[in-house]
Amino acid sequence: VTGPIVIQGAMPVEAERFAQRLDNPQELDIGGWRFWRGTVDGYPVVVSETLKGMSNASAATAIAATQFHPVAIINQGTAGGHDPALKVYDIVLGKYSVNLGAFKTPRKQMGEGSDPLQWKPMDLLASKGSAGEDKTPHTIRKFPADAQLLSVAESVKESYKKGNVVEGVIGSADMWNSELDRIHAFHSNYQTSVEEMETASAAQISAAFNIPFVGIRILSNNITNQGAYDPQTGLACQDYVYQVVKAYIAKV
Ligand code: 5AD
Repeated sequence: VTGPIVIQGAMPVEAERFAQRLDNPQELDIGGWRFWRGTVDGYPVVVSETLKGMSNASAATAIAATQFHPVAIINQGTAGGHDPALKVYDIVLGKYSVNLGAFKTPRKQMGEGSDPLQWKPMDLLASKGSAGEDKTPHTIRKFPADAQLLSVAESVKESYKKGNVVEGVIGSADMWNSELDRIHAFHSNYQTSVEEMETASAAQISAAFNIPFVGIRILSNNITNQGAYDPQTGLACQDYVYQVVKAYIAKV
């Protein structure tokens, strides 16, 4: 096996801790993005600060794919809970992710208002034709995790003491939702465990390059159960992913 493992984090607090744990790190700036190339247990690892949001994450993923030819990409960081059973510091291993920013609205006349709860999923990969004219309803596009990466991510969960580690669904969009009815609708219609702003985008681009992918997200907040925001969770997630990377390297 050749090619590095790429670890993505959006914000400095979600990437720098992992970068500091690399042996012989070397920083590379490409466009607006920072990458750190080094090793873990002698195996090449690249940490990528994707910056926030779907566009930044997709561009950083495409750059990583063409520059480094990774054997695996792990997108990790913080997220907000959609599932009331999940607490701040719990970790969601994304069995798949969905884009929570791709919808079609029903037709409404002037004065009829706007109701996002009526919006239907729009699968941007469904066809080459116009999505607006497509009359067949779409089901939401699922970007699946690589089975081996997911099972390696599962294999270290006993080592995590700050919360539970569960498999779940990660929803991504350039949004921060704080409307409980909307969050409930996402959770019941699309089974989302958490929301954040990068995973589905990185997963889509990884799939386009045939690179095995998994998203690993820690709850930094959960307004469905009064879980207050804690920025330190971003560090705990990197510590968990570090264990995942070591376990993966031991196998390859
Ligand atoms: N909604 C959206 N994004 C969130 N993030 C953490 N919690 C949430 C939330 N409730 C993550 C996003 C983004 C940054 C704002 O933190 O992925 O990078």
